[in-house]
Order: sequence, then structure tokens, then C-alpha cells
Amino acid sequence: MSGLLITGALIYGEGEPVDVFIDEGEIRAIGTDLGVVDAEIVEADGQVLLPGFVDLHTHLREPGREDTETIESGSAAAALGGYTAVFAMANTNPVADSVVVTDHVWRRGQEVGLVDVHPVGAVTVGLAGKQLAEMGTMAAGVGGVRMFSDDGHCVYDPLIMRRALEYSNSLGVLIAQHAEEPRLTEGAVAHEGPTAARLGLAGWPRAAEESIVARDALLARDAGARVHICHASTEGTVELVRWAKSQGISITAEVTPHHLLLDDSRLETYDAVNRVNPPLREISDVEALRRALAEGVIDCVATDHAPHAEQDKCCEFAAARPGMLGLETALSIIVETLVRPGLLDWRGVARVMSERPAQIVGLDDQGRPIEVGEPANLTLVDPEVTWTVRAKELASISGNTPYAEMTLPAKVTATMLRGRITARDGVAARPQSVGGA
Ligand code: NCD
Ligand code: ZN
Repeated sequence: MSGLLITGALIYGEGEPVDVFIDEGEIRAIGTDLGVVDAEIVEADGQVLLPGFVDLHTHLREPGREDTETIESGSAAAALGGYTAVFAMANTNPVADSVVVTDHVWRRGQEVGLVDVHPVGAVTVGLAGKQLAEMGTMAAGVGGVRMFSDDGHCVYDPLIMRRALEYSNSLGVLIAQHAEEPRLTEGAVAHEGPTAARLGLAGWPRAAEESIVARDALLARDAGARVHICHASTEGTVELVRWAKSQGISITAEVTPHHLLLDDSRLETYDAVNRVNPPLREISDVEALRRALAEGVIDCVATDHAPHAEQDKCCEFAAARPGMLGLETALSIIVETLVRPGLLDWRGVARVMSERPAQIVGLDDQGRPIEVGEPANLTLVDPEVTWTVRAKELASISGNTPYAEMTLPAKVTATMLRGRITARDGVAARPQSVGGA
């Protein structure tokens, strides 16, 4: 048997169902009656075929916290969520501030073989914000680091940020900023507003994010460099990004599924599963973020998949670690918040979950059009089904999903990485190499 035949797929959810024949990692033919006799069949039966998703913001916790996620378990979660490439953040232990760590992450991801795991390099040594990491060496390694971020921490020193942007420009890499002015968020655990005040939780003001977004837009302008804003969470950030783009500044921004669905009314229960950075904001922010993503002011969706151990989540709100799972539920949340209300069609989903993120980091084999001769990085989505999220059934080692027991629309039914099926009907493929490294 040779090749793979997807039968009866609606490409981008449009037109009439067609068959797609894939061989040697590429799309070879698209049409009806292709005359393929000897291929493995994936029956799409009217399901929607999209380019494989690309996540610019994933925490895989390896090395250092393999009790909460590994490159292997996170790759399975990514494949099940429809992802064919993810960017693994640098806040591991040791920090990914050297080529030894970034190359390890890339190699281990390739061994597992379920998704391309691109390492993100730290901007500063140890994420401490004091001294630039050896970005050039990491970029030149086999991991080919193309994105740098101190995510989890803000590159708060404007002079360090300015130098990082200047340096990134000459290397042709991207700086992604976790925008949080630390002096404004000391001790903060929740969005600063009426809810946090009533619940007695220390507040994280919108201005802590927005002041850094504004500053970095200006630094990028003067350096003639690009800057990417991680997990935009406020209406003010949307307006600042809109303004910066109108000035011709090379700024891009991502939004997480949770900031598109959840607001700070979730905190009423004090359940720390809802603690996240930046914090869940107000309905007005949620609505502004949805509109901005639909309009293209916010470029793309990024999960900020942040696994945490039970002991770090099932505790007092203020003592819990911030972060929530995202890879396996992202598509469903985007359907719930944007497709169902009519803000995005399936072309739009392809744009915000695959094409734009691939362009932002310059991946030339991802986010490609579904056409003959293109790499077969594909995701098949059943838009008709609904499913109930059960934390224990997720592939992640951790269980900190805020969507537990929620019933969500749409499900990824198959994911293909260079023509190989990496997930199908809710089961991830076996890793190409178990354990190892
Ligand atoms: C992230 C984590 O757990 O590493 N947590 C979070 O609340 N988002 C770090 C980050 O993305 O800022
Ligand atoms: Zn962050």
C-alpha cells in the first residue's frame, strides 16, 4: 500500500466534496475519481480539511518538569488538537537560553515525530532580564531557533529590549514579548476590577500589559525591527496594536482561546484552574479580542498551553501557579467563539490558526495552501459533532483544563504531518521513538 487518500473532504469547508491523494509527504492530486486503488483511506465524509495548525506559544515542560508534560505527551496533545507545528517556550529548567537546550528540544520533537517542535530561545540569560542570551548561536543550531521570548517573564528593561530588537533584526528572528510591567503586578493574581476587589484578590491592571505593548511598538519602530505580542488580553492592547500597524510598525499579536471565551466572573469559585497570566479580563475585553481577531488586528490564535501539577493548581488561588491547558481544546473554542457567531468562516480559521502563525515565524512548510505539490500538513475537522471535555481523557500529563465537563462544538478527527497520520478519531499515533534522549 502506498500513499493516503482522503475521500469526500470539503477543502476550507467550501464547494463540493473532493478526494485528496497524498504520497511521499506531499499532496499529489485533488479531485473526484482519482483512480487511486492502493492507498490507506481516510473517509472525510463531508468534513472540513484545513492546513495543519501552528501554535506559537506552547509550554512542554521538558526539560525539568516532566511530571507535568513532556515533549512526547505534549506532542500527542498537539496532534490531537490538529497541530502540525508548535513553538515550545523557553521557561524550562534548565532555561532554553543555550543551544544545548534548544537543539535537544528540536531533536527530541523529531524523534517523537508527532508534530514539529520548534524551540523558542530565551532573550536573556536565565530569563532574568539582565543580559542577552546567545541568540545567534541558538539560531545557528540544528534547532534553528527563529523565535526568542522570555515568556513567563517580561523583558522589562527597555534598554535590554531595545538591544534584543536590534540584534533580532540582523539575525532575521522574532522577539515575542510577554507584556507585563512587573512593578504594576507585584503580588497580583487576578484582573484588577470589581470582581477581584470583591473577592479580595490582588489586581493585575490592564495598564501593566498595555504600557509594555506601547513601549515595545515604539522600540520596534525605532529599531526597524519586528515585535510579536504574546497573549493579548485587553481592549487597550487591541487599540495599541491597531495604531502601531496603522503607523507601519512591524508588530503582530496573538490571542489565546481562553481569553476569547472566559472572563473574570469565572473567579467567583476561587478555583485556581482559572488563574492564568495575563488574567481573565472582562466581557468587554473578550468581545474586543474576538472582533480584533476576526478583523486581523490580532493576527493569530496561540494556545499558551501551560500544564501544571495538581499540587500547584489544587490549592489556594493566590498560591497556585498561573496557566491552563489549551492544545486539545483550541479548535473547539475558536468554533464556539468565532465560527458559530459568524465572525469567522473556515478560511478564517485556516488564517488565524495556521497561515498567519506560520508567516509570523517564517515557516515555509506550514500554513500552505491546500494544493497539489504542497506539503501534506493537514487537519480534518468534524464541524457537526459536540464533545464533553474530561480532564482525565486528555493526552496531557496534567489536568488543568478550565473546560472540564463543558460540552464544546467541533472536533479534530485526523491530523497529518508530511502525509503521516499523527492523530485519528481521538487517538494519537504512537511516537516514532519512545523515551530516548
Ligand atoms: C505560563 C506558564 O505556566 O509557563 N503561564 C501562564 O499563566 N500563561 C507562562 C506564560 O505564558 O506567561
Ligand atoms: Zn506569557
